[in-house]
Amino acid sequence: MYAEDLNVYDVIRMRRDVRAEFTGDVVDDATLWRILDAAHRAPSVGNSQPWDFVVVRERATLRRFADHVAEKRIEFRDALPPERAATFEPIKIEGIVESGTGIVVTYDHQRGGPQVLGRATVPETGIYSAVLAIQNLWLAATAEGVGVGWVSFYDPGFLSELVGLPDGIRPVAWLCAGPVREFQRVPDLERFGWRSGRPLDEAVHRETFRG
Ligand SMILES: Cc1cc2nc3c(=O)[nH]c(=O)nc-3n(C[C@H](O)[C@H](O)[C@H](O)COP(=O)(O)O)c2cc1C
Repeated sequence: MYAEDLNVYDVIRMRRDVRAEFTGDVVDDATLWRILDAAHRAPSVGNSQPWDFVVVRERATLRRFADHVAEKRIEFRDALPPERAATFEPIKIEGIVESGTGIVVTYDHQRGGPQVLGRATVPETGIYSAVLAIQNLWLAATAEGVGVGWVSFYDPGFLSELVGLPDGIRPVAWLCAGPVREFQRVPDLERFGWRSGRPLDEAVHRETFRG
């Protein structure tokens, strides 16, 4: 299916967190630019656009990050009770090298100056804005046949140093992005028995949270 045949609901249903289905090809620059353009069109508190995107393609950098993530994966596994550790073991949690492209999405709390319209009482609205850029990116990539996998098994300090973030710029996500063979229909964590989703009617409440 091509992007022009898909409507927004199709893309939302197709989107997956991708780890194992990367083809090994690298996403071409024109496609990557369209995906980043979609991210950059996200809503943001006070129109502050607090995000930046660091595109990483150096094999050595991808490898260094993958090695760091592998250490964090082991730390997480070793802290699990034995039964959960056994469920976790076969789950792939990243496709850093295979995807061929990493996109580090960052957040700048200073962007937009001292009076960001709408952020005064809820400071997290800045981070929310960066995350909306990620969701736009993720959906646009899906429409292009490009898989995205969000990797959060890292020490923020390590990633900041790896890609040279200046003081005050926080990493929000490492996204693996690359062409995929297919999108799984069921999330990996469900397929591997780690955790299933819950039905919408459990998430929707009427008038109060208890309703
Ligand atoms: C903030 C955030 C961090 C995540 N970190 C990881 C991660 O480190 N490794 C991983 O394999 N998946 C990660 N995921 C993907 C989730 O596991 C995935 O979105 C969820 O299981 C639902 O699957 P789906 O995205 O395919 O619908 C992350 C997702 C989010 C939103």
